[in-house]
Amino acid sequence: MSDKLKVAVLYDVWGEEDIPESEKAAESGRKRKEKEDREEIFDALTKLEHEPSYYVLDGRPQSLHGLAKCGADLVFNLTESYAGDDTKEMNVAAYMDLIGLPYTGAGPHAHFLAQDKATAKKMFHFHEIRTPYFATAYRGNIDHAHDVKFPLIVKPQLEDGSIGIDAEAVVNSVKELMERVEYVQNEFDSPALIEEYIEGREIYAAILGSYEKTEVLPLVELDLSQLPEGTPRIASRDVKFERETKAYKLTKSKVADDLDEATAQKLADTALAAYRAVKLRDYGRIDMRLTPEGEVYVIEANPNPWLSSKHEFAMAAKKSGRSYTQLIEQIVELAMERTKRENSSGS
Ligand SMILES: Nc1ncnc2c1ncn2[C@@H]1O[C@H](COP(=O)(O)OP(=O)(O)O)[C@@H](O)[C@H]1O
Ligand SMILES: [Mg+2]
Repeated sequence: MSDKLKVAVLYDVWGEEDIPESEKAAESGRKRKEKEDREEIFDALTKLEHEPSYYVLDGRPQSLHGLAKCGADLVFNLTESYAGDDTKEMNVAAYMDLIGLPYTGAGPHAHFLAQDKATAKKMFHFHEIRTPYFATAYRGNIDHAHDVKFPLIVKPQLEDGSIGIDAEAVVNSVKELMERVEYVQNEFDSPALIEEYIEGREIYAAILGSYEKTEVLPLVELDLSQLPEGTPRIASRDVKFERETKAYKLTKSKVADDLDEATAQKLADTALAAYRAVKLRDYGRIDMRLTPEGEVYVIEANPNPWLSSKHEFAMAAKKSGRSYTQLIEQIVELAMERTKRENSSGS
């Protein structure tokens, strides 16, 4: 067990008191999970005999000033945005770097590279990691375009949590494509990422560690095979968060222990390469697709993935022999060791 540490469990809120009841209900699946996430971490830290406390960034400068003075030895960083802006995750990490406050998980570079899915895909491409061909479009401007082939999936370039991803995101014609690009631009004021749709199994790799010391945990599959005939097999918003929907009830994550050794190795190697390509550290999750022919495509890299005990990361950790508390302990230790190493190397 490491020394007793003051750990601030950091999360963000923004304008929650202004949200109408109807929207609160729609968001409830997600909120409940977020809450569980930080509460479970708090409990685990207590069991580990650390001294946890909650700290909230509410989008006001005072909360940033307060964080600088919170006296924590380590921040367990669960923020996903700042002042309601998802793209500011990197600024929160950069701020903690500036004030010399150690924290768990990704640094600003990783947030920058992974948040923008097109940027991440460019990094994967450079490192020869297979990722679906893609194009991006924003109000008539094309930043990049492969000669992509239908079927395609259209997503907001800068969101996560399957925002903007539902059955209509998968398109089979130019008409559908144009309509969906317009929808993404108007609804999210976001560039559209247009990607070749890869049919196959959805496999997640949870990874612990940094630099050369990393471990890929047992692979987990989100089984989408029971979704009704005719609906695309994707982890839509419903599948992930809307507990009352059929899609949520018909899908479940499980350890992918039926994969042959060579395929599992290929998935693990690909995930690790992707993890390094976008500079993830401490812990992260790589989302992949495995085609019936055994090809592996990286769909997305997730810095600081959810740590709820019911989610894929903790599921993988459990399969590897770690209890939930041990998982949290290891993330704390990884962050502390890494910080020590970074400070001593002057980086
Ligand atoms: N190119 C693709 N081919 C097949 N399915 C995809 C593709 N891109 C996304 N999906 C499906 O949509 C889900 C969400 O997409 P992802 O890019 O991971 O967004 P988010 O950041 O919102 O999780 C994926 O988990 C997968 O099921
Ligand atoms: Mg994803």
